[in-house]
Amino acid sequence: MKQTTVISQEQLDAQLAFCHKIKEFWHSQTITPLAYVETYGCQQNEADSERIRGLLIESGYAITDKSEGADVVVMNTCAIREHAEQRVFGNLGALTHTKRRHPRQKIFLCGCMAGQEQVVNRVKTSYPHVDGVFSTHHLWQFPEVLSRVLFTGKRTFFTADEAGSIVEGLPQQRDSGLKAWVSIMYGCNNFCTYCIVPYVRGRERSRKAADILAECRQLIDSGIKDITLLGQNVNSYGKDLDEGMDFADLLAEIAQIPGDFLIRFMTSHPRDASKKLFDTMAAYPKIAKQLHLPFQSGSSRVLKAMNRHYDRQKYLDAVNYAKSVMPDLVLTSDVIVGFPGETEEEFEETISLIKEVRYDSLFTFIFSPRAGTPAASMDDPTPKEEKNRRFDRLCAVQNNISGQLHNEYIGKTLRCLIDGTDKEFLTARTEGGRLVRLLGDESHIGNFANITITGATTWSLTGEFAEKD
Ligand code: SAH
Ligand code: SF4
Ligand code: F3S
Repeated sequence: MKQTTVISQEQLDAQLAFCHKIKEFWHSQTITPLAYVETYGCQQNEADSERIRGLLIESGYAITDKSEGADVVVMNTCAIREHAEQRVFGNLGALTHTKRRHPRQKIFLCGCMAGQEQVVNRVKTSYPHVDGVFSTHHLWQFPEVLSRVLFTGKRTFFTADEAGSIVEGLPQQRDSGLKAWVSIMYGCNNFCTYCIVPYVRGRERSRKAADILAECRQLIDSGIKDITLLGQNVNSYGKDLDEGMDFADLLAEIAQIPGDFLIRFMTSHPRDASKKLFDTMAAYPKIAKQLHLPFQSGSSRVLKAMNRHYDRQKYLDAVNYAKSVMPDLVLTSDVIVGFPGETEEEFEETISLIKEVRYDSLFTFIFSPRAGTPAASMDDPTPKEEKNRRFDRLCAVQNNISGQLHNEYIGKTLRCLIDGTDKEFLTARTEGGRLVRLLGDESHIGNFANITITGATTWSLTGEFAEKD
């Protein structure tokens, strides 16, 4: 099996030298080049795009919000479902026009799609206007890819399959001054039978706790109020390190950093969601009482076929314990409808689990076969129309629950972080991550405030500043 590699300071310095060479190239022509990064998929990709922007800025680029007229376009892609890939191919095709109007435009594809051989081959043969492709394992080498393309004009593909690496110290252009993603680990070892992620993001590897803590301290010092720790399965944090620290220990350490902030995390796999984790969440006020705990299916038979390593009862036990130690816990989850061979009775078990748990909100997906995963070749007799019907029914059940739970907020006063604006409203997030709209002055942005909830819909809340503010 291939080994995780830790990228050395010399290797990183060599990449930064490429950045400076590129910067010099543009500077000598007195041009400030523009770069556009388009992000698909999950928070991992959002965080990676911040690193790509960091490297582009280091190379002298200014970031723009459109592909038209950009000197570099980077498509940071997601491979989780077929629909996501189709969108990328459509948008990639449209870039032939922006490139025709701006011939010096260089186009790159990266992210999870770039980890699939058939995608790379398709780009090579059918998308000749794409100048470079690099998989997530090669993100840190983007300056080298960009420099080759700029200075040799050759199409460049950095897509070798690897176990993955850990890189510390890459420049990162954060999207927000209030909220930050912090990757605590990369990759996944779980191989759920439907999922492409372990194939495109490599093996599970954890960052050292000292590096994570230093990054969190620095973020909090710079005014960040809300940190989300990222990993495909944060509960297995540290298993590959020899530090004697598990995820709950790491959370407790971060929660003791001085300052006014909240930490949250995703994603937590139910398989190793421990009582210790929930007790730690309950013990520290700076850990948000919010849990994203994907269940995928309410049927133990389907869960086994998915290779999830827990059954319905074990999942419910974990949720019940978490709720018992955190009565105000906001719970969200992911669910897949129409996994190969899912029967009507098994689907009904998913519905009954949703009704029993009563999630605040759910991310709902119809099974999408991914080439190379075991589930893609499983017998799947259920017609598409039937899957769509199950999906609609599930959404209706959940919307009803979300609406009811949101109504229960009315009259409550909650501490929220005011984080932006939406038309004439300020936007705020409850500790549990629910969106609140309220009227008020923009000077409140960046502060925590007590907000009394006055109205609710299925998706969001409205409120006003509580009297004492
Ligand atoms: N690591 C996270 C999930 C990351 S992918 C976890 O294990 O919980 C986000 C969600 O996409 C998954 O939870 C699953 O619900 C959905 N998903 C993944 N592969 C899928 C597929 N092939 N078809 C449909 N949904 C899928
Ligand atoms: Fe995919 Fe399962 Fe890993 Fe989540 S835990 S990323 S669903 S393989
Ligand atoms: Fe998509 Fe990759 Fe995330 S496949 S969901 S962007 S890990």
